[in-house]
This record gives sequence, structure tokens and C-alpha cells, in this order.
Amino acid sequence: MATVAPRPFPRRHLLGIEGLSAREITVLLDKSEKYVDRNRRVNKKQSLLRGRTQINLFFESSTRTRTSFELAGKRLGADVINMSAEASSVRKGETLIDTAMTLNAMRPDVLVVRHPHSGAVNLLAQKVDCAVVNAGDGSHEHPTQALLDALTIRRRRGRLGGLIVAICGDVLHSRVARSNIQLLVAMGARVRVVAPPTLVSPLFERMGADVHHDMASGLRDADIVMMLRLQTERMQGAFVPSVREYFHFYGLDYQKLAAAKPDALIMHPGPMNRGVEIDTDVADDIDRSVIREQVEMGVAVRMACLDILTDHLSNAAPADAGAAE
Ligand code: NCD
Repeated sequence: MATVAPRPFPRRHLLGIEGLSAREITVLLDKSEKYVDRNRRVNKKQSLLRGRTQINLFFESSTRTRTSFELAGKRLGADVINMSAEASSVRKGETLIDTAMTLNAMRPDVLVVRHPHSGAVNLLAQKVDCAVVNAGDGSHEHPTQALLDALTIRRRRGRLGGLIVAICGDVLHSRVARSNIQLLVAMGARVRVVAPPTLVSPLFERMGADVHHDMASGLRDADIVMMLRLQTERMQGAFVPSVREYFHFYGLDYQKLAAAKPDALIMHPGPMNRGVEIDTDVADDIDRSVIREQVEMGVAVRMACLDILTDHLSNAAPADAGAAE
């Protein structure tokens, strides 16, 4: 009797890194590797998701994430629809759930959702029949960003386990930080968060990170220095005295970087605010900065996620659904 092999990623949605095992993370990263190679070819198009519909539903602005999810879907052959809050009936007072139920009635296979409120994407996932990918919910999670960061690091360093990763800046408001800490801790890296006392929370220690308030100790012997933007859109009131003072103490320049390993990699999820959290020369340092590479990895990671989350739908797949190679 034929036995059905267990699915390597037995989940319907990708809502966060929280709860994923090292094995599941590795499955996603290994699958992404295949797409990195594929995306460097002249012909990038495949038919794996032909006949499938992907809706990108963005209630918050985005450059990298939205574009790369769109490219990812299109390169896999899906029909991709982009919706932004400004152009939708949300402007007419429709609730998130009503919007989701409306889209669900059109039978999409994947919904990629970004929303300014933490937990909104999880709520939506409970109401729809298709796979849901969290493209960032408030300051909660941004799982595909953590995966693309991990892929960038793993390709450069050959591993994640044992590395010292310093995540610096506005960690308090950062979904990138939360997803990254959980992924890196799960994979055996040592994570430090480096931020002024006003921009951290006790949560980060509970997640397994060490908290530092000065760059000199936080960056000491670090393999990876990941900078974050001051997310003023999530701040009510003043969290830093002035941008000038913030840069003086927490902006990454060569002087502060000297505390890290000589070959430490510089990362930033974007969008960057040059002269605020990062010096412009450091950001563009071709030997140290992997910021552009992170963007490239983003497309591959999102292709891998779409591939894996739609994998179990293969009973309804077209005949050439396996033509991923
Ligand atoms: C991040 C985000 O939206 O959370 N950007 C991104 O997805 N590349 C970080 C940020 O906005 O600062």
C-alpha cells in the first residue's frame, strides 16, 4: 500500500516564527536556496503555481516586501493581485474581517497580508480558507524578513549556530527584531539587542536575547550587526532626545563597528534612514554591507514560502505542477 510522506512543513499558514522548529526553519531555508539559483538565470519563470491566485493585501506601506511577494508569485506562475488599503473599501469603513471574507469568496489560494495592528493577520487567518502569509503585523512578527536575513547570513557564514548577532536600534517597535530573535535563538545563534532603555522591553530577554544599552559592549566580537530604523510611525511621544544624539550613541559608524569582528557583516531590513541609525559610508561598504543581498534573498524566500504553503494543494494542481526544477 502506498504511504503518503509527511509534509516537511505541516502548516497551513506562515503567521510568525514563534513556534517553528529548527527543522521547519531549515526546510524553508533549504527550499529558498534553490530559488536563489533559479532567480539568477535569464528565464526565471516557472509554472508551479499556474492556475493559483495570490492576493497581496497591504494595509501599510511597503517597497521591498510587497514587490518581492509579487515577483515571487509571478515567477512561480500564479495570478497575483495587489490591493492596498487606500484603494480598497477599507476607506469606506469596511472592517478587516469583512474585507477578508469578501476576498475569500473569490477563492484565492494565498493571501499575503500586512497590517498595522499586531495580531490582525492571525485573526484574519482564522476566517479564510486559503493559506495566509504574514507580511508584517504591527510590531509583532515579520517571518519572511527573518527567513531572508537568516538565508543571507547562512550563505555568507555557512551556518547560524554559534554566531553572535547584534540587533541594534528601535527593537521595541520592530517586528523584524521579534521574528529575527526567535529564529536565531531557535537555530542556536547568540542574540544581543542593543538599544536605549526607552526602546527595549523585558520581552527580549524572555525570548533569549541579551540586552545591551551601549554599542561598545553590544557589538563586541559580533559576527553580524543588524541595524533597525527608528519606527516613528509606531511611537506616541518622544523615545529619543534628538536624531543627532541618537546617531551619536546608537548610529552605526566605523568607530562603533570596530568593536565587532573584523569581518562582521552589516545588515538592515530597509528602509534605511541614512545618518540616523546608520552612517552612509558604512551602509554602502561593499566589503561589509549585505543590505542589497538581503533584498535579493527576499524574493527567493518568498518563492519558497509560496511553494511550500501550496504544496498540499497538489491534488488539484495542473499536470506540470512538479516542474519546479
Ligand atoms: C521592515 C518592516 O516593514 O517591518 N521593512 C521591511 O519589511 N523590509 C522594517 C521597517 O519598516 O523599518
